Amino acid sequence: MAKPIFVLNGANLNLIGVREPSIYGRETLADIRQRTEARAQALGLRVDFRQSNSEGEIVNWIQEARENADGIVLNAGAYTHTSIAIHDALNAAARPVIEVHLSNIFKREPFRHTSYVSPVAHGMICGFGPKGYELAVEAMAELLARPSMSKPQS
Ligand code: DQA
Repeated sequence: MAKPIFVLNGANLNLIGVREPSIYGRETLADIRQRTEARAQALGLRVDFRQSNSEGEIVNWIQEARENADGIVLNAGAYTHTSIAIHDALNAAARPVIEVHLSNIFKREPFRHTSYVSPVAHGMICGFGPKGYELAVEAMAELLARPSMSKPQS
């Protein structure tokens, strides 16, 4: 039986909706979860949607994905720009990874232009707000339908 897609959210994403609405909009993470789950359901996928402010917990979830998920959609928040631990965990997960950001990180401060997630991701979606999560689930559905993706990568 197909396993869920882990949709993992990092630091401060619990505050989406009230935090810097001019950048991140007014939708809450609960709203984003709802639309992500709805899109996944329409595509015949299950989603396991989580958020943590702790880098170690995100590393643990990525390790768990190796056994319990078919793919990983990740918005690591600020850990994107700092975390070699998350980079290493994604490399070890042997699962397709899609990176998501609500904002267009390349239009923002230079320190957001570096991502430790991108080199180990299949692709990145940024700048489309909450819609990006739906686009990521759509892209994941296509990736998982490819025969080469049905087995763990080495
Ligand atoms: C973010 C972009 C990051 O630079 C920032 O630290 C976040 C949110 C985004 O979704 O646009 O917390 O990942």
